[in-house]
Amino acid sequence: MSKVNQHISMLREDFNKGELLEVNLCKAPDLQFEQWMKEAIDAKVNEVPACNLATVDENNKPSARIIYLREFFDNEFYFYTNYNSRKANDIVKNPNVCLTFFWPELERQIRIEGIISGFASADKSDAYFNARPLDSKIGAWSSPQSCVLKGREELNKFVLDNKEKYQNSEIPRPAFWGGYIIKANYYEFWQGRKNRLHDRITFTFKNNHWQIERLAP
Ligand SMILES: Cc1cc2nc3c(=O)[nH]c(=O)nc-3n(C[C@H](O)[C@H](O)[C@H](O)COP(=O)(O)O)c2cc1C
Repeated sequence: MSKVNQHISMLREDFNKGELLEVNLCKAPDLQFEQWMKEAIDAKVNEVPACNLATVDENNKPSARIIYLREFFDNEFYFYTNYNSRKANDIVKNPNVCLTFFWPELERQIRIEGIISGFASADKSDAYFNARPLDSKIGAWSSPQSCVLKGREELNKFVLDNKEKYQNSEIPRPAFWGGYIIKANYYEFWQGRKNRLHDRITFTFKNNHWQIERLAP
């Protein structure tokens, strides 16, 4: 066995930072999510809004990548990306998606399943794009996200071309770039506990209300 394999096979983390009990649970999952988000921010968790977005393509092949959650309210979750990317192509064929957050500092995981209910409004996408630093705006214009490049030089050239193009003008949001809305229908809040006996509480939207259940760890 290689040293790396030996090392990872021996890594053991025991979790003991908290518990998640039904008595302390918020009545609605978006409130529980907000509560845990607040606690993650207060605990200075690294990369709080970074989460894994899983999509499925037309052949039922899943793929996943990290994105930033940028806004949430009323069980709707917003993220921003390139509308021609691999994830965007998956979403066109299959709107079912899953988000997973992992906050090791709090020993917490949150899983959110839902459906892409549409694009963020043009106003919202414009507002978010306009708030980005100039170089990120140039980056959005310059990256044919998920496409194969001839090499780094090709990307550098796109950047130079766009810098020149927009040197004397405002940089508008590209039509191929903006937000998506995920409408959540399932949440799982996971709190690590001792001896792998973790707490797992789920909220499932059924018959117009949120059904709360506890899963075995
Ligand atoms: C911390 C972190 C945050 C990221 N945030 C975003 C994001 O908000 N939007 C995005 O399109 N890509 C983001 N990415 C890049 C994606 O992981 C991914 O490489 C990119 O979206 C292309 O994915 P795709 O080819 O599967 O569509 C982020 C990566 C990391 C590591």
